[in-house]
Amino acid sequence: TKVVADTGDIDAIKRYKPVDATTNPSLILKAAELPAYKALLSEALEYGRQSYDDVNIQTKLACDWLAVAIGKEIQGVVPGVVSTEVDARLSFNTKGTVIKARRLCELYRQQGADSNRLLIKIASTWEGIKAAEILEQEGIRCNLTLLFSFAQARACAEAGVYLVSPFVGRILDWHKQSEGRDYVGAEDPGVVSVSRIFNYYKQHGYKTIVMGASFRNTGEIRELAGCDCLTIGPSLLEELENTEQPLEQKLYAEKPVSDDPRLTL
Ligand code: E4P
Repeated sequence: TKVVADTGDIDAIKRYKPVDATTNPSLILKAAELPAYKALLSEALEYGRQSYDDVNIQTKLACDWLAVAIGKEIQGVVPGVVSTEVDARLSFNTKGTVIKARRLCELYRQQGADSNRLLIKIASTWEGIKAAEILEQEGIRCNLTLLFSFAQARACAEAGVYLVSPFVGRILDWHKQSEGRDYVGAEDPGVVSVSRIFNYYKQHGYKTIVMGASFRNTGEIRELAGCDCLTIGPSLLEELENTEQPLEQKLYAEKPVSDDPRLTL
């Protein structure tokens, strides 16, 4: 399992040394308040002001600029890829998503960052999956997020997307709220969803990487050890670091062959 940091906080990334990192607009907004990004925030606002008169457009441009600038900082620390998300208002707009994704790649290049170590994060709506299909054909790798169901996962694999981020915690949140009960371990419906997607992809030979996301506790992470990637926020990374209990592999791309002779009869 590759550990990925789900944060825009550069200090946390330096501390936990993940291979890759994922961001989203709310993580960027949170990171924007950090002293480490004070200068970048001013530059982003200035970029917005210079580009357009309309304040709303200025804000959107500044947000894109900042997401890319933070992505660039993270690229300076991690050896792998950084995910930068297309904002949710384009989730049901294929053309808009494609244009925005190309623009984010261009902004990475303009800022002197590495557009080849970038995953464009897109909501796993039908329109988002169609956009990803187009972008993948252009060589722009995508991370399909907000993935809650097996149907979304199948559509993403068939569209040939590079990576999917099936959510765990938000599925659990929904069940807790609607059923008024909690789930733990392998019974956690978010864990069940990711395990099913992982097993299906491996059984059918899909190359799409499965990255479990949206964790609420370390128990969920333990149940999904063995998944291709897991993207984890700093507080849970800290909890994992402070525990003696090692992660024990639960998911296998191929079922382990038992050396018990009774099972081979
Ligand atoms: C990662 O890809 C997601 O943006 C993130 O894990 C979402 O987590 P949340 O459900 O806590 O917002």
